[in-house]
Parts: sequence; C-alpha cells; structure tokens
Amino acid sequence: MFRSRSTRAALAIFLLLILWTNLRSIDLMTATFKQAAFADLITATSRNDGSLPRCEDLTQNPSSPFSNGAFLTSRTTQVVWKLRNDGSRELTLPHTCQLKRYTAQEAGKCLRNKHLLFIGDSLTRYQFLSLAYFLERKRWPPRYQTSGYTPCTQFDEGGQEACSKIDEPNVCCETDWELNGNGGWPAFMQALGGGVDGSLFHGRMEAQSIRVPISIERYEYISSEEDGRTKLSSLSEFFWPKYRPYHGWNLTGCAKTGSCRYSPESYIKNIERDHNSDWDWDYPNIAEAFTTGSQLHTELQDTNYAFYNRGLWGALQIDKAQIMMDALRNMTGGRSEANNRCFFRSTTGCQRTREWALTSMEYNDVRKTSYESGCEYFDIGHVTEEFGGLYGVDSEFKHVFWNDKHYVSLSVV
Ligand SMILES: *[C@@H]1O[C@H](CO)[C@@H](O)[C@H](O)[C@H]1NC(C)=O
Ligand SMILES: *[C@@H]1O[C@H](CO)[C@@H](O)[C@H](O)[C@H]1NC(C)=O
Repeated sequence: MFRSRSTRAALAIFLLLILWTNLRSIDLMTATFKQAAFADLITATSRNDGSLPRCEDLTQNPSSPFSNGAFLTSRTTQVVWKLRNDGSRELTLPHTCQLKRYTAQEAGKCLRNKHLLFIGDSLTRYQFLSLAYFLERKRWPPRYQTSGYTPCTQFDEGGQEACSKIDEPNVCCETDWELNGNGGWPAFMQALGGGVDGSLFHGRMEAQSIRVPISIERYEYISSEEDGRTKLSSLSEFFWPKYRPYHGWNLTGCAKTGSCRYSPESYIKNIERDHNSDWDWDYPNIAEAFTTGSQLHTELQDTNYAFYNRGLWGALQIDKAQIMMDALRNMTGGRSEANNRCFFRSTTGCQRTREWALTSMEYNDVRKTSYESGCEYFDIGHVTEEFGGLYGVDSEFKHVFWNDKHYVSLSVV
C-alpha cells in the first residue's frame, strides 16, 4: 500500500515536471544562444537515450534514494533542453534517466481522485491551465500562439502545425483572445469559466476571476467521473507588500457537475462587485487567508499536493514564508499524512530574480523554511536556468511560454 502510494506521489511530480517540458518553446532564430553553446547542445542530445534507465523505474523501490523524485530537479542533475522539429524544446536528463511522456489517460489515472492546489503568479496560472487542458482535452495546448491570418510556420514531429488556430485561441496565451481590446483578458477568463456554452473546459472549470489592476483569480477544475475526478484549484497572488489585502468570491461548485458558465454579464457583475468592495471573503493578507480556521483553509482541506511560488514579484519575507508553508502543510493533512506533499516551487533562474539576488535567498532561506514546515522545495530554478538567457529577447507572445513576458519580465502578470 505504502509502496503504491509513494509511487503515485512521485509520479505526480513527474507529471508536473513534464508540464515544463511541454510548455517551453523557443525559436532559435531569435534567441541569443551562441553558436558554441548550440553546438554543445546538439552533441549532448545526440546521446542515445535508450541506454538510460527510465526515470519512473528509479523511484519504484521505496527505500531507494530516488523514491521521492527529488533527483529530477536536483542541482547535480544535468539538464538539456533538446531541440524539437518545430523549434520548441523538450526537457531531457541525458546523464540520469529517460523522462516519460504521459498520455492524458495515464496522467488522469495517476491523478485519479487527487486534489492539486496551485498558488502563485502568472507562471502558476498557466501551469494550472495547461494541466487542466491536458486532462480535459487529452492533449497539450499548442506550443505556439496563433499566427493570425498568416500561415503557421512551425510543424511538430508529426508534421502538424504547432500554432493555435484563429478560431481556437491558446489557453496559455491571453492575447490570443483579443476581441475588443483589454489584451484579451475578459474573453479569455469568460472562456475558462464556461462562457455561454461550457466552452474550453466543457463547463468543468469555474472562474471567479476578473482582470483589474490587481486581478482576482480563483479557479477550480474537476475532471469527469470517467476521467477520474481530478480536482485542480488555483488562486493567484501578485505583488507581495506585507499587508496587501487578499479577497475574492466563493465557488458555486459548478465544476463538479460540468455546469459552469461565465457570461459577459456575470463578468461585468464581478467587476462591479469588486468596485464596491463586495467580496465573499476578505483577509488582511494572503498568509491569514490560508491559516487554519480561515474559509479557504476549510475549503481546501482535502488537498493532496500543494504548490506555491513567488519570485517575480519580489522577495518572500521569511515570516510570511513560514506561515504560508505551515498553512500548506496543514491543508495537505499535517505531518501525519505522509503521502501528501506540499512544495515551494522556485520560480526561475531568470535575470530579474538574479539581479535581485532572489535566487540565493530562495534556495537558502525559503528552502530551509519550507523543509522546516514539513514541505519541500521543487527546484525549477535549476531546471530552467537556461531560460535566463532570454531576457529582453523576443518580447512577442509568439512562443507560448518561452518568452520574456511569462518568464522573466516583472511588468506583466
Ligand atoms: C461563502 O462560503 C462560506 C463557506 O465556505 C459561507 O460561510 C459564506 O456564507 C459564503 N458567502 C456567501 C456570500 O455566499
Ligand atoms: C497548522 O496547524 C497547527 C496545528 O493544528 C496550528 O497550531 C498552526 O497554527 C497551523 N498553522 C497555520 C499557518 O495554519
């Protein structure tokens, strides 16, 4: 029993890691990779992957040092972003093991009846959305945003266009939803929440979300009975002054019955409610919002895996980190529930974080705090270090995730 449960936990971590793999895209024509580095990359990836053990096999023995999956993102594990046909990249660990590419069915099985909670900034929003999309639509979002009315020039391994279509905008790119200005946000959020006919998630995602200067975003996705009833929750946090109020609205529970709708009228109603400070819950700051006894704590008590990220919005003070990580540990069942897990997910190895010396602060102070609370540290900073080179390069939204907006920039949420 223990064995299968711990294996399942490790598999969930794989899946999250694979998310990064699928999200990242880069066009080498516009990137500033030096020729030499590029040559190294090709050499490194020419190694025959078949000679490596499978990563999931390494985790199978509960007494092995690999069983918790931490080696996957450890700083001593060499990471290579292998170039794909269409100019995007995929994560490989060429000296460690072969990562498995999960099908949506396998992912759904692995996450059956599990509840994952994501709290963080826009990077977190898009990780949550792409996973929900994968579970619901049985494929990853396209690697590139729509090319508008010009032909798509990227083709994947199967020869298919890798851009989203103009009549099917990308779930990871709000500008694809631009209809009447506002950067596409209202149309995008309405579509997430079911629009007028169920939309992208067939009514299985509730969005109590609006785009205002300090956006409110709360989502809940629940897959169908047939798909395993995986529940994904997401709450946003932008900025981190010490006492910024944290507020939002209740969920109706429509995700469970696939009956969610988010019409333009409902969206406007939420804008008005926000304007009138008419929220269903309102806390002095995010730490209090998740502390034992709070409404959110109660509603999210059945969480199995929780992920929290900061970084692009400045330093996470240690006293706040302590409360947040304690709160996440409590929501995932306290120390007695060994099979549930909570993580601080390091944001980046990005330029901005480096400039502010946040990388070392995250790696040392926040990491320590996280372990002290009984949570862990998901070191995406190491895995994504290479992305730091993209700073200021290609600020277009062409590549769904590998761009300086959703990776390095501080100015866009
Ligand atoms: C919001 O939900 C909480 C329970 O989680 C409930 O106590 C409260 O009355 C709800 N508020 C509204 C306005 O429905
Ligand atoms: C976590 O749970 C413990 C034990 O119930 C409690 O003392 C502590 O205040 C909780 N911490 C937070 C941040 O909710």
